[in-house]
Formats: sequence, C-alpha cells, structure tokens
Amino acid sequence: MIAVASPNIAFIKYWGKLDAQRDEDRNLATNPSFSLTLSKAQTRADVRRIKGDAHEILINEQAASAKDVAKISEHVTRVERALGHPAGHYRIETGNNFPAGAGIASSASAYAALSLALAGELVGEREAERFLGDRNAELSALARRGSGSAGRSVAGPYMRWDGAHATRFDSDWRLRDTILILSREHKAVPSSEGHKLVRTSPHFAARLGKVPERLAKVERAIRHRDLPSLGRVIEEEALELHRIARSGTPPVDYLLPETRRVLEAIEKLGHRNFFFTLDAGPNVHLISETSIAHEIEPLLARLGVQAEIWEDQAGDGPRLIK
Ligand code: DP6
Repeated sequence: MIAVASPNIAFIKYWGKLDAQRDEDRNLATNPSFSLTLSKAQTRADVRRIKGDAHEILINEQAASAKDVAKISEHVTRVERALGHPAGHYRIETGNNFPAGAGIASSASAYAALSLALAGELVGEREAERFLGDRNAELSALARRGSGSAGRSVAGPYMRWDGAHATRFDSDWRLRDTILILSREHKAVPSSEGHKLVRTSPHFAARLGKVPERLAKVERAIRHRDLPSLGRVIEEEALELHRIARSGTPPVDYLLPETRRVLEAIEKLGHRNFFFTLDAGPNVHLISETSIAHEIEPLLARLGVQAEIWEDQAGDGPRLIK
C-alpha cells in the first residue's frame, strides 16, 4: 500500500515530553500544540509484505542506516501489535520531494505516511480509508509514537494535539508557509534531545502556564481569519522555544547569525502581511494569506543573506494511493 503525507508547522509548539514507562506513552507532550498541515512538501511511503526473513528498507532510494532500520522496525512492530496482526516482513520505501535538512520536519510526514501505508497493508484498502475518517485518532496516536509531531500530520488543514492524539480543527482559511532555507546542515542537537533539556531552563515552568491562553488565541484568530492576532502569538511561541533552548543546561542555540538578521529586519518593517515562526533549527517560516516571495527576495538581497525559498500552503492531510 502507498500513502503520501505532508509535514506540519507548529503555531503552538510541542517542546517537552512527559516521562514514559510504556511504549503506548511514548512522545506524550507536556503541553497541547497546534499546527498547520502543509501540502506541497510530501513524504511517500510504499509498504509491501515480503516473504524474506528481514525488512528491506530504502529511504530516498538508499539502503537505510542501521539506526533508521532499528527505529522503523520498532515502529512496524508497534503498528502490527496495535492492529492485532502477527509480525511480518516488509519492503518499505520512503522518499521526500523536499530537500533534506531544509528545516521542514521530515519525521512528521515520514511517520504519518509510514503508519498509514503499513496500516493499509495490514487491514486492506477499504478498511484503511477509515484511518483518514472515523479511525483518524488511532492513526494519530500511532504516528505520534514514531515521532511526536507526526501525530499532527494525519489530517489538515489545522490540527490540535492534546493528550494521546491530535484532532482536526476545521477551517477553510488556506494559510501559506514560505520557508527561508538559510542552512541545510543537520542540526547538532536533534529535537529529541532538545525535548529532554527543557526542564533545565528557568523559563519552562512559566511557559506551561501561558500555553492554554495562547492556544485559545490561535483558535480564535483562525476562526476570525485575523492574521495579525495569529502572528503575535506564533512569533511569541517561536521566540520562547529558542529562549528555553538557549537557557537550558547545556544551552543550545539552533539559530544562525543570518536567522537573527532576517528576524530583526522583519521586526523593523512597519506594516507586515506575514509573521514568522521557527522550529528547532535556523530556517525561518513565514505565515501569510497571499504569496509573499516577491516581498521577501528584495529584503534578503538588501541584507546580503543567501536563502532558498520553499513556498508551501495548507493541505488536507495524507492520502492512500493503492
Ligand atoms: C520544535 O516531533 O521532531 O518541531 O517526538 O522526539 O520525534 P520527537 O520530536 P519532534 O519534535 C518537534 C519539535 C518542534 C515543535 C513542533 O513541531 O511542535
């Protein structure tokens, strides 16, 4: 079975996990989060049962590393168990249509696509469609156990994740995400490590208290299509994530000098029809209603900052191909 899923960009961030004793509790977040599911960037996962005695796993046409084989095999077992199926072996091919290391969270789309394709291979095509309908929460909880943010890539255009799974937040406001790729280097500290360090920051406890109000503001802004109100909250959230990372022990700075220059220049603009957010990396995501590349290119040129631009927009979540 083949499934295609897109990454998501968080407006309210998942940054910090609860301790887990059992695999069922893996990647439960310390706070609710909220995201926009993208559409252009996609991971395609093709999963076929095979007769051999081991999985065959290819990522972007290359044999997967031992580490990736271990993580994906663990996820396969997790999905088989959850759906009450005996262990089997599979040929698994996954591929992205977007550049690796571009600050687009590929683990979210990868685990969403893999979970859906595998579930489809186990339960059959007709039943598999239910994972995009009345069984979507189950798919979300499974994808989440692979990578937390993947639990929000199982539907769209907006997802609210609280507890075991994410739920669709309905709206036909089609926001855009223009990603300024300032670096493609892999980050020195993966987000799984960043999640563990949050408690060492003196700002973390206060953040948890602020999230419910911010979440309510995001939902209200989306209902009213109020971009400036949404923008204020997402910028506050993004800066807070980085403040927490920088003030932990050891401190982690995910930003580059270029990121700071771009953010400063954006903040100085008088009127803006776009607002920024950041993940645990140096690339800048700009959220807007209309296409803004033509406004951003001269700004980057003026700053002397080189960046590739990836223009994406709201999507409706994964689909099954066959
Ligand atoms: C900064 O989902 O990548 O992008 O659960 O360890 O796989 P794991 O972490 P991951 O964390 C994403 C963190 C973030 C914010 C967000 O997407 O909400």
